[in-house]
Amino acid sequence: MRILMVCLGNICRSPLAEGILRRQIQAAGLDWTVDSAGTLNYHAGSPPHPDSQKAAKANGIDISAQRARQIVPEDVDRFDLIFALATDVLVGIEKILGDRFNPAQVRLLLNELHPGQNENVPDPYYGTEADFHHTFTLLDQVCAALIQNHLKKA
Ligand code: 4NP
Repeated sequence: MRILMVCLGNICRSPLAEGILRRQIQAAGLDWTVDSAGTLNYHAGSPPHPDSQKAAKANGIDISAQRARQIVPEDVDRFDLIFALATDVLVGIEKILGDRFNPAQVRLLLNELHPGQNENVPDPYYGTEADFHHTFTLLDQVCAALIQNHLKKA
């Protein structure tokens, strides 16, 4: 399974999602590929936000080597599933992918945890350090649900 996690800037939420899912995949002994991207290009080439790095590090995960990039239409060939971390992200992905957008491939991440609710992972960009820790906890829960949902189907 090849999974792409997508938020707006690829500096706060999706780098955490990438780091968390990668650790959980390893713990579960799964041979999955994980990457992350953003719908915006403002932060392309930048490392994750310092508070995302801190929240990850506090939980034993090093995300410092990640670099932001914008999602490109070719990502539909490189990944089986593309997860949008919020509804505005989903709209941005649809715009960028154009006629390559496939709703069966591009999904809202939190529906793995709360099916059919179409909830957003809150953006901690303008928030406090505590908001980043809350984001970590939520992403840890949804990544566990994603793996469980996959194992149930397999
Ligand atoms: P992220 O947070 O989508 O979780 O990486 C944001 C980072 C930057 C911006 C928006 C959200 N921005 O507008 O620059």
